Amino acid sequence: MSTRDVELKRGLKDVYLDRTQASFIDGGEGKLLYRGYNIHDLAEKSTFEEVVYLLLYGSLPTQPQLDELDATLRASRAIPEEIYQIIEITKAGHPMDVLRTAVSALASFDPEVEDNSPEAVLRKGLRLTSQTATIICANHRIRQGKQPVAPSATLSHSANFLYMMRGEEPDDDEAKLMDVDFILHAEHGANASAFASRVTASTLADLHAAVVTGIGTLKGPLHGGAAESVMAMAEEIGDPAEAKAYAKRVLDGHGRIMGFGHRVYRAEDPRAQHLRERSKALGEKLGQPKWIQILDALVEAMAPYRAKGIHVNVDFFAGSIYQLMGIPEDMFIPIFALGRIPGWTLQVLEQYENNILIRPLLYYEGPMDLEYIPMEARS
Ligand code: ACO
Repeated sequence: MSTRDVELKRGLKDVYLDRTQASFIDGGEGKLLYRGYNIHDLAEKSTFEEVVYLLLYGSLPTQPQLDELDATLRASRAIPEEIYQIIEITKAGHPMDVLRTAVSALASFDPEVEDNSPEAVLRKGLRLTSQTATIICANHRIRQGKQPVAPSATLSHSANFLYMMRGEEPDDDEAKLMDVDFILHAEHGANASAFASRVTASTLADLHAAVVTGIGTLKGPLHGGAAESVMAMAEEIGDPAEAKAYAKRVLDGHGRIMGFGHRVYRAEDPRAQHLRERSKALGEKLGQPKWIQILDALVEAMAPYRAKGIHVNVDFFAGSIYQLMGIPEDMFIPIFALGRIPGWTLQVLEQYENNILIRPLLYYEGPMDLEYIPMEARS
């Protein structure tokens, strides 16, 4: 058999892996729906808690349903003392490594870890959504030599996250901004980390294992890691007037401009505009318009690439918001992971519901039928 006899789909580009009811993406039009609802409506009119309900249960909640889910999330924010110790031991690592290790360790404390029934997976997904926030913030404090801030039971998911991160309650605008950011990151089809989570779930491994796989996959700069790289790039550029020369230098060297391009979108990522507008407003409010000006200048410099379908993606403006909120760059990917827990949970649920082991083939191109050479005869 030769490569002529098989169809190689490198990177699984344009391959439909399965059916889903989670999200719909039209890459040509730049359209994203969660469970049928347009991301623009959800970003403007909804809350993260409502979107969690929508994704996990399939419809917008009534007020009592939302109240119940909110109460569950609030009651699930504590993490075992041992997890704080694990964070302490691993605090020198990248926060994504700490998060991956701590979430993995949480499996040892979860009473339902081996239960893959839909009800248990939903409960675990909600617990992980809350506990992940506490882990990320505890890591941020511990590595600075500060006491972790205990979760609040009175704040929303997003306000509580900023409270645990910075030690003071955010104002309503900041809490809303964080909320929109989590909404926009909650689910996105067969992206690399969700696919990786599905592969793990397809072996009937548990949700914690699948989420740990997702966290590991999200870290790379071609996926969630791009948000961190975008702000490093903005710092290197330093001045909006330098953006054009920077882009030319990178592109002439066949490099990539982080936060641009997408496997599926050929139009602008519909999530990006919400973050851009909000980053601009926050920068103006804080008297720090520099970051958005540099990023806008880079968008302008990349204008010739729009015809090739290379536009900004969700990661491009997210980092500037976190930066303005005083959150360090290496926390950007963990924040993405936190927003994505509901999406990973839903995809794991879908995988279990109609499971088939995900196990593709690799086309072998190495030597064949070599004669085994004893050690003493090898040169
Ligand atoms: N800067 C410059 N050129 C780019 C960029 C970019 N950011 N993205 C794609 N291109 C070019 C490639 O060089 C390639 O050009 P060529 O055909 O002349 O060789 C062409 O566009 C197609 O690129 P591929 O890498 O083949 O497309 P693919 O679908 O495999 O890649 C990816 C998508 C990995 C996201 C890519 O656009 C990229 O590296 N972007 C930068 C990293 C980034 O922002 N990642 C976050 C993605 S969103 C998310 O995960 C949340």
